[in-house]
Amino acid sequence: MIIFDKVSKVYKNGTQALDNVSFEIKKGEFVSIVGQSGYGKSTILKLMIGEEKPTEGRVFVSGYDVSDLTEKELHQLRKEIGMIFQDFRLLPKKTVYENVAFTLEVSGATNKEIEEDVPQVLNLVGLLHKADKFPNSLSGGEKQRVAIARALVDRPSILIADEPTGSLDSLNTWDVIRLLLKINELGATVILATHNREVINMLNKRVITLDRGKIIRDEQKGRYIL
Ligand SMILES: Nc1ncnc2c1ncn2[C@@H]1O[C@H](COP(=O)(O)OP(=O)(O)O)[C@@H](O)[C@H]1O
Ligand SMILES: [Mg+2]
Repeated sequence: MIIFDKVSKVYKNGTQALDNVSFEIKKGEFVSIVGQSGYGKSTILKLMIGEEKPTEGRVFVSGYDVSDLTEKELHQLRKEIGMIFQDFRLLPKKTVYENVAFTLEVSGATNKEIEEDVPQVLNLVGLLHKADKFPNSLSGGEKQRVAIARALVDRPSILIADEPTGSLDSLNTWDVIRLLLKINELGATVILATHNREVINMLNKRVITLDRGKIIRDEQKGRYIL
């Protein structure tokens, strides 16, 4: 479902972020991408969603050659991918419900679909009772669960999480990780970039380890060793 074939990325300023990176991720896998800050985790995720293009090599996601997409194809690819970030990126002037509904409005859903799907996904993340609250009244963990609901409501086949627990305490971290595992069990491919050692060692899932833009380990049931 996702293929990186000998991918290198050199940014315009000359920084080499990735050096000859190859891996495959199958449908339904839960894969963590680990490595210290600046080692290329976010660059890998940006290549997956077509936000950046490889300097060398090719990236395939859900059958699309991401290095060579028309605007229309890019739009279709993005519909297959939900993304969450360390800083949540919620809309502060919209309620929890409206934040999630907004994704569906943008993708042209009908009112009926919105009225059905938003409560369902808020229920999945355990926040139906906070539907009318604004983001600034929520804890960090709750904000991230809203962001997850928003990423999921369009039923993407892939969920990409870039340091989703980076600004959470350990209790909220586990809430978010448990939710990512549940989403994976429901069928989505989950890709988690993190440098949280504790999280990786508890997950017992596949780990791809980066060191300065190169893959140094790719293990099933991997641990965080750096
Ligand atoms: N847009 C950019 N322009 C120039 N250099 C960048 C850009 N984005 C990231 N980099 C550099 O590429 C390297 C990898 O960055 P990144 O993929 O963000 O790493 P990580 O997510 O592991 O912290 C770093 O040296 C970073 O400074
Ligand atoms: Mg990063």
